[in-house]
Amino acid sequence: MKTIDRLIYEIGKLYTLRGPARPRSGSEMQEVSVIENAAIAIAQGQIVAVGKEEEVRQQLKDTTIVEELNAKGRIVTPGFVDPHTHLVHGGSREHELSLKLQGVSYLDILAQGGGILSTVRSTRQATEEELYRQAKKSLDRMLILGATTVEAKSGYGLTLTNELKQLRVAKMLNERHPIELVSTFMGAHAIPEEYKGDSEAFVQIVIEEMLPEVKARGLAEFCDVFCEKGVFTVEESRRILTAAQKLGFGLKIHADEIESLGGAELAGELNCISAEHLLAASDKGLQAMADHGVIAVCLPATSFNLGVSPARVRRMIELNLAVALSTDYNPGSSPTESPQMVMTLGCLQLKMTPEEVLTAMTINAAYAINRGKQVGSIEIGKQADLVIFDTTNLAYIPYHFGINHVDTVLKKGDIVVQ
Ligand code: NIG
Ligand code: FE
Repeated sequence: MKTIDRLIYEIGKLYTLRGPARPRSGSEMQEVSVIENAAIAIAQGQIVAVGKEEEVRQQLKDTTIVEELNAKGRIVTPGFVDPHTHLVHGGSREHELSLKLQGVSYLDILAQGGGILSTVRSTRQATEEELYRQAKKSLDRMLILGATTVEAKSGYGLTLTNELKQLRVAKMLNERHPIELVSTFMGAHAIPEEYKGDSEAFVQIVIEEMLPEVKARGLAEFCDVFCEKGVFTVEESRRILTAAQKLGFGLKIHADEIESLGGAELAGELNCISAEHLLAASDKGLQAMADHGVIAVCLPATSFNLGVSPARVRRMIELNLAVALSTDYNPGSSPTESPQMVMTLGCLQLKMTPEEVLTAMTINAAYAINRGKQVGSIEIGKQADLVIFDTTNLAYIPYHFGINHVDTVLKKGDIVVQ
């Protein structure tokens, strides 16, 4: 090593999340591997040395250090990975708040042509530039709050043209914004109004027109389906996901969010990389996921916002599942971009420890979008995606809720928030 670009030193506590090159399941989620009085050396966007400051400085004694950054005794963690968002969409849905307060349920709002279908109308009407501007504003917020890698789903177009429009916006943002985006095609997010009562015809279009075109254009890595009562049945979800798998997409599924349909079981059967929500998942479904290494992506801001019981994460951990957490940022069930809000809800609603929450929002979240080899932990050879928080211990972040604790964010070694 002749030159390093940046040395971060005087780190009070460094939460490295180092460990085996796979998702952390069950009791492993508690192991965050802390180094006190630490330093991190970065060259060409990657971590090249990490450990006790004295040891790192010793290793660098014949090396030119271009810039030093004093962490002043604060904590450093990997950048948050948000593995489930509906980032690109038009409009917002604050008008649903009064319906919710009157007790109208999420699925009833959808059945009446509102909910997702209301955002479909706004997204279809919006130009690509308008969608870009709105999504960029959200990404800026996510970055300031500590997220450095984010998954983004389509699913508010529900026609080939409009799905491609959403996916192109995500591609452009990935090229221009410091946050790295990973795209998921979710054409099967709702039955569009024009196919009401004929879900079969829409499923055919998803399978025969949309999936091959999205694949041919290289616009998404994953395919996701909303498997839910009144949306897509288990059988329809199986057909769509199987077709996607044949084309080479990784598989995700919104499973058992509201009704226990058997989505978690299907996730196991199809070896999905992850199943999301799982509020109503049965033990049998969770066991099927554990047997097939499916990551459970839990979304505590969604259950909080819907006013329903949270996911049974303690049970999932008991069953030795790997759990990831995400904002589920979307205009309906989870209108928040904040990973720190999710940390608080992970502790207070899901009864997870701050260490389990951190694992779920870094290394496990990275594996949930197939980025576990590049990001999610602070280890030699990984991208220098890092957050310095203005606190001296991890628990302070979820404990002191509703404010932003980020001091500095680095993406691939560059300071992008300070
Ligand atoms: O993950 N449940 C389905 N999809 C989103 C909500 C989308 C919306 O309401 O606009 C979710 O919760
Ligand atoms: Fe979602």
